[in-house]
Amino acid sequence: MHEGLRWIPPFNMTEKLTAADVVMGGKLIPAGTEIALVIGSANRDETHFDGPDTFDLRRPRTNNFAFGFGAHFCVGHYVARQVAQISVEELFTRLPGLRLDPDREPVVHGWMVRAAKTLPVVWDA
Ligand code: HEM
Repeated sequence: MHEGLRWIPPFNMTEKLTAADVVMGGKLIPAGTEIALVIGSANRDETHFDGPDTFDLRRPRTNNFAFGFGAHFCVGHYVARQVAQISVEELFTRLPGLRLDPDREPVVHGWMVRAAKTLPVVWDA
């Protein structure tokens, strides 16, 4: 058995400047205000997703903020998706039986950059 995959997590925040007055959650944010958006929180919005804290690969497709939206939608999303698909395919081809290590928990923390810092796995050599 082998161990020790690590990965580079995406950022959890982005900043914007409001172009017009906007009311959110009953609060007025005047035009010209610098704001920080917490992407990780948006993707767990309980008013938008059922069971937002459940990792469910089979949930029905719906809009999410993983690659942003509108004018600033990620220009690299096609590349990122291709790299992810090819990487995962290669990983599972080269490491047969790849699975989470049943004896060690992943370590997930961070606010600005929130992700699994370590993801212990095992596979069959
Ligand atoms: C899994 C990988 C990636 C994720 C999760 C991701 C996510 C995002 C998100 C959420 C935004 C919107 C930020 C905002 O509204 O402020 C964004 C914008 C952007 N992304 Fe990505 N991205 C990824 C990969 C890439 C790659 C591979 C490239 C370049 C080849 C790239 C280039 C950009 C650029 C240039 C913008 C700014 C677009 C703009 O402001 O008009 N991204 N990305």
